[in-house]
Amino acid sequence: MAKRRAPTTVLITGASSGIGRALAIEYARRGARVMAVARREAELASLCEQITATGGSATHAACDVADPEAAAETVRRAERELGSLDMVIANAGIGGVAHASQMQVAAMARMIDVNVRGAMATLIAAIPIMLAQKAGQLVGVSSLAGRRALPTSAVYSASKAALSVFLEGLRIDLDPSGLAVTDVQPGFVDTPITEKNEFPMPFMWDAPKAARVIADRLQKAPRILAFPLPLDWLTALSRHLPYAVHASISRRMSSQR
Ligand SMILES: NC(=O)c1ccc[n+]([C@@H]2O[C@H](COP(=O)([O-])OP(=O)(O)OC[C@H]3O[C@@H](n4cnc5c(N)ncnc54)[C@H](OP(=O)(O)O)[C@@H]3O)[C@@H](O)[C@H]2O)c1
Repeated sequence: MAKRRAPTTVLITGASSGIGRALAIEYARRGARVMAVARREAELASLCEQITATGGSATHAACDVADPEAAAETVRRAERELGSLDMVIANAGIGGVAHASQMQVAAMARMIDVNVRGAMATLIAAIPIMLAQKAGQLVGVSSLAGRRALPTSAVYSASKAALSVFLEGLRIDLDPSGLAVTDVQPGFVDTPITEKNEFPMPFMWDAPKAARVIADRLQKAPRILAFPLPLDWLTALSRHLPYAVHASISRRMSSQR
């Protein structure tokens, strides 16, 4: 895979905390003009202040990506304000665990609206812009949890699996046009999403390290960008395990609370 030109304009959703915030700081440090998107405007404003204070360039837009029209309009606004759109990172997402016996329809709908429809709307809106530019990188942040269902995470795993398949489909369609599509599949990263988890989270990274590795590896626009290596391998292996073995191991791991 050849190295690509570093992006000069980057839109990142879910930039008010965690991985998205660290990505905004990392891309600004690398010289890109960044548009940071999330719902909490005060957090976005302080992020932009921090970036500009260190010589970087960042602007922000408050948007609930669960509203697909609002997400699409924010993407178009980013292109107008930044002057181009070299990279769009659909990172906004919500977590949450619930045993099947406790699931709420409203919570399921919200997770699908943000993690699936929000990410899809963000990326779909960027496609005509990038096709007109004849260049661009579309990036979605799914999860290693999308490779196989896990206890108490049926909706989350399903939302990330849906996003991964969507990204693969985009890549099939857009490869011939020269647009790059990457599915980022993190393992555990220390952010507000994982703070609430009470189960073991092996090989956890901090968000700045995750952002550095993502930005480094995106230079080669891989189809899948998974980390850390031990969990990448274990989850790849788990896909080949018979259901009964996978269910038994994952139930045992989640009961170690
Ligand atoms: N941390 C992990 O271990 C891990 C592992 C695998 C995958 N991921 C994925 O990585 C992504 C980032 O998560 P994180 O760990 O960095 O968690 P986080 O710190 O909670 O960040 C989530 C971000 O998404 C934004 N967001 C949530 N709902 C939104 C909405 N409706 N519209 C716009 N923005 C919204 C939040 O901002 P506002 O609240 O301000 O809107 C926040 O900036 C998620 O997609 C997550 O599923 C995380």
